Amino acid sequence: MALQHFGWFLGAGFGVQGWGDPTYGIGYDWKKPRVYQDAAARFEASGFDLFIIEDGVTVPDTYGGTAEVNLANARFVPKHDPLPLVPYLLAATSKLGIVPTLSASFYEPFTAARLLATLQHFAEGRLGFNVVTSGSDIAAQNYGLDKQIDHDRRYDRAEEWVQVVRALWRSWDADAILEDAAGGVFADFTKVRTIDHKGEFFQVRGPLNTAPLAEEPVMVQAGASGKGQDFAGRNSDVILQLASTPERMKAYRESVRSVAASFGRDADDIKVLFVVQPIVTANAAETADVRGHRAELTQAAIDEALQGVSYLSGVDFKKFDLDAPLPELTTNSNQGTLDNFVKSAPAGSTLREILQLRANKDGLAVIGTADEIADHLGSLADEVGGDGFLFTGQVHPANVHRTLDPLVPALRRRGLLRTELGDGGLRSNLLDF
Ligand SMILES: Cc1cc2nc3c(=O)[nH]c(=O)nc-3n(C[C@H](O)[C@H](O)[C@H](O)COP(=O)(O)O)c2cc1C
Repeated sequence: MALQHFGWFLGAGFGVQGWGDPTYGIGYDWKKPRVYQDAAARFEASGFDLFIIEDGVTVPDTYGGTAEVNLANARFVPKHDPLPLVPYLLAATSKLGIVPTLSASFYEPFTAARLLATLQHFAEGRLGFNVVTSGSDIAAQNYGLDKQIDHDRRYDRAEEWVQVVRALWRSWDADAILEDAAGGVFADFTKVRTIDHKGEFFQVRGPLNTAPLAEEPVMVQAGASGKGQDFAGRNSDVILQLASTPERMKAYRESVRSVAASFGRDADDIKVLFVVQPIVTANAAETADVRGHRAELTQAAIDEALQGVSYLSGVDFKKFDLDAPLPELTTNSNQGTLDNFVKSAPAGSTLREILQLRANKDGLAVIGTADEIADHLGSLADEVGGDGFLFTGQVHPANVHRTLDPLVPALRRRGLLRTELGDGGLRSNLLDF
């Protein structure tokens, strides 16, 4: 077993934490930074490389054509914008990478480049940014569009967006600022240039008006479709994917690494991290109990699973007969996520069978004692050849403690989790191994 990178992916974003848990709201207020600061400090002390915060800009109403289930259960809504949280997380930590999500479809590249550059100055090399393309029509309708542009076109736009953002970051030479008080020259005008970008989607003059960066923020991306993999493999430092079967995980990693190589990159410079949700139990009896509850597949559990996949894929799963095989599905939204769901059971399975398998078979969710989960992750890492894992789940204190208190030592005992992070920033930590 080799050292793996670990992190936490806050999959429902800067939103309600712990609703439905008996400890909900005790000692924390999800609307304030403190609970996330505490979690971030714990991740850093655990030797995690990064903390990624999801984002979206809708009150989801795909499931059954209404927001009822999402609002009643606080699923993906309400939530705050993750960017203002970043300085608070930076203040609570000194080595952890902090990665907010922002949308290439809704941020102008100049606005994004400027915001991220400012935050990276605060972060001293610890900032990342998760670039998403936002597949939802109802999100697009908040930004003046009738519907979201086509899936592949969104990636074309995102590609140009990244090129412009990076060109803006490079519009000042690293040594442009002289601060030469004696000579009376603050910055050398010959080292600051317009970019004069005129592309298919953007026209940006530049230069950026912030100070040059010692190091550009780490780019994170989660594309899984062909176009998504092209975009991620070409541009991204970290690629996240939902865990599924070892075969599919391995195939994904190999595919995206070969895309990176085809663009002249060293495939070892990109880190493919798989998202898992550890559900830690005390012993075999509790594991059986948890699995038993999950196998019951109550209406609440069905709603919980289906609102999630409806939100992420843009397909209303309420309209399908639970006891019939799913029809052939396509989406203009997140293709990889839809694929991950549909293919989690053999072809021809009914929707109920898919849900049952997902509830009970380890994939995204991994259920067991800390030692069993650590063994599972160790053998997955061996089989997939992966670079590491992102734990997902809400960061209310009870969940962070009950997950990490037993799991961190179990991972350390197996040599899977490092004991200390370096001081060189997020990219440097990611490239340690
Ligand atoms: C683990 C994971 C995390 C993601 N996080 C976000 C997010 O925070 N916000 C968002 O709008 N999309 C998010 N997505 C969607 C992806 O960024 C990507 O746009 C989507 O998977 C569509 O790409 P594809 O069609 O190539 O699979 C996430 C996807 C995955 C698998």
